Amino acid sequence: MKNKSSMKIHFRNGCLALVLGSALAFPAASADPEAIVDYRQGVMSSLGGNTAASAAILMDGVDFRENLEKHARILAEFTRDIPALFPEGTDVGDHDAREAVWTDRETFENRAADTQEAAEAFYAVVRDGGSEQEIVAAFRDMGQSCRACHDDFRR
Ligand code: HEC
Repeated sequence: MKNKSSMKIHFRNGCLALVLGSALAFPAASADPEAIVDYRQGVMSSLGGNTAASAAILMDGVDFRENLEKHARILAEFTRDIPALFPEGTDVGDHDAREAVWTDRETFENRAADTQEAAEAFYAVVRDGGSEQEIVAAFRDMGQSCRACHDDFRR
């Protein structure tokens, strides 16, 4: 009896995994431009949040210093492929991206690459125990690179 019921549970779990698996494999998500807009705004908001949190630590000296490396890591990870958040066909709904994102793609991708490099550099200097000056300088560079893209590509 014991074995039988555990097999059943196992089997049910197998079914559940299959059902979830197909739900995840199916998502019309990639085909729903407004969902992609929501996702990119969520990712961008997280960049804003982690930048603001880092600024509070570095500029205002709040007592959460041990979190700085985590904020920096998230910034490095989520700036790795910004252009992918702006595929063709997502100039839809309620958003603040300028048309230039799609018409001047080369500049847009260069700005994205600058930010990616700057965020990686910020993370590296925090992780590797750089001096306060190096960390603040890398943080400022990253912030300027975010702004450079927003100036041209965000309303
Ligand atoms: C290559 C261009 C580019 C770079 C680099 C970039 N952004 Fe953005 N960002 C945009 C665009 C375009 C929007 C508007 C997106 C929309 O409304 O769909 C945006 C939106 C935002 C928003 C508003 C999100 C919302 O909820 O509507 C925040 C906050 C933000 N970015 C923060 C940052 C930070 C912080 C960085 C740097 C670490 C950064 N961005 C780097 C292009 C960029």
